[in-house]
Amino acid sequence: MSTLAIEGMQWGDEGKGKITDLYAMKADIVVRSQGGNNAGHSIQHNGVRYALRLLPSGILNEHVVNVLADGMVINPTCLLEELDNLNNKGITKYNLVISSRATILLPYHIEIDKAREEALKGNKIGTTKNGIGPCYEDKAARLSIRMGDLLDLESLKNRLEAIVPIKNLQLQAFGGKPVDIDEIFDLLKDVAIKLKDRIIDTTVFLRKAYKENKKILFEGAQGAMLCLNYGTFPYVTSSSPLVTAIPNNTGLPLTAVNQVLGIMKAYSTRVGEGPFPSEIDGDIAHRIREKGHEYGTVTKRPRRVGWLDIPQLKYVKEISGITSIAIMLLDVLSAVEEIKIVTKYYVDGKEIDYVPSTVFELSKVKVETITLPSWKEDISNCKSFEELPINCQKYIETIEKLLECSIDIISVSPEKDATIIRKELF
Ligand code: IMO
Ligand code: MG
Repeated sequence: MSTLAIEGMQWGDEGKGKITDLYAMKADIVVRSQGGNNAGHSIQHNGVRYALRLLPSGILNEHVVNVLADGMVINPTCLLEELDNLNNKGITKYNLVISSRATILLPYHIEIDKAREEALKGNKIGTTKNGIGPCYEDKAARLSIRMGDLLDLESLKNRLEAIVPIKNLQLQAFGGKPVDIDEIFDLLKDVAIKLKDRIIDTTVFLRKAYKENKKILFEGAQGAMLCLNYGTFPYVTSSSPLVTAIPNNTGLPLTAVNQVLGIMKAYSTRVGEGPFPSEIDGDIAHRIREKGHEYGTVTKRPRRVGWLDIPQLKYVKEISGITSIAIMLLDVLSAVEEIKIVTKYYVDGKEIDYVPSTVFELSKVKVETITLPSWKEDISNCKSFEELPINCQKYIETIEKLLECSIDIISVSPEKDATIIRKELF
């Protein structure tokens, strides 16, 4: 198979970066298709850690072409900083192309994001405050600047003259400072000088590569439960992290997404507000949070912790057509004596066989769990499924049975090689 799509099956931070990095080495092309610098992960390369927010994980491999595709929102200052960081660490040869259709995220989007979260008070979403929502809103309102606009500075100026007065009305409504057209123009002119050679119609490039049977890896950002359409609205992001959105965010046909690898943690986490049926607190949550270093990479917020939630994962498996699963952070569960798995949802005393579409109903969900014994052994050196402690094997087999999907990849420690691959996918 020449393409592989990766999707986070929970609320983000599933450990997608490690698996993406693993497959990026084998790919010809790595594509980020949606979201922006709300995503964040670090990858290990030749013993050095690199923090990536916008750049695809193939960026450290010289032979890989990395694509920032149409559906992305790109903060150019953040992108240039990431590239500078690479340069500073001696990575100077990389292959990066940026879609002329990708939307530019500007400082005023960040201002609006922050001001709105504040205005929402107790109803805040808990965004990463990177301006993602306001930037996608401008795209839908047809009030945004796109990467392609940087290729003609005169028409860029005209665009800014049309858009900025409208944005200023919005900023002033939030008590913010109006922005100056020239200031934004100067910022973008500088970005244009630095990035213009990389801005292309990536759909032409990708379609050609697809026809030539090149190996394309679609990197996932965020998680399915943060999807604008199918997540726990309104506590979601402003785009769709589902693999089903890939064609519409890259210009490739549906058939280009034929293998879907879902990434899940061995338990659940969530940052930000919103319903979380399998959430736990107290000492058990604390132990998992500490052992799993469950603090946001972008915002440093402590992550909320919960058990694995089968109804939630089954829902995601079905809406995304997941064909294979990678389980991450399995080693963390040795921090507790007993592991629970949520197997059923109840609302008003009745079992339901769906994930409620409203926050109102979702917040009424009561869960049923099963309990399995944990293990005390260090699993980080296990090289095969059979080498795992028997309780650990049982945990995995139980999940496979409940989800009706095979777990083909098992991550046993943060290290790149500490990964049991039961089936080659790519
Ligand atoms: P990665 O790629 C975890 C969450 C935020 C918030 C909601 C909306 O690292 O898995 P936004 O800034 O997107 O408007 O915030 O979405 N969120 C993430 N949570 N991992 C991410 O990305 C996230 N990207 C957004 O915490 O609840
Ligand atoms: Mg993250």
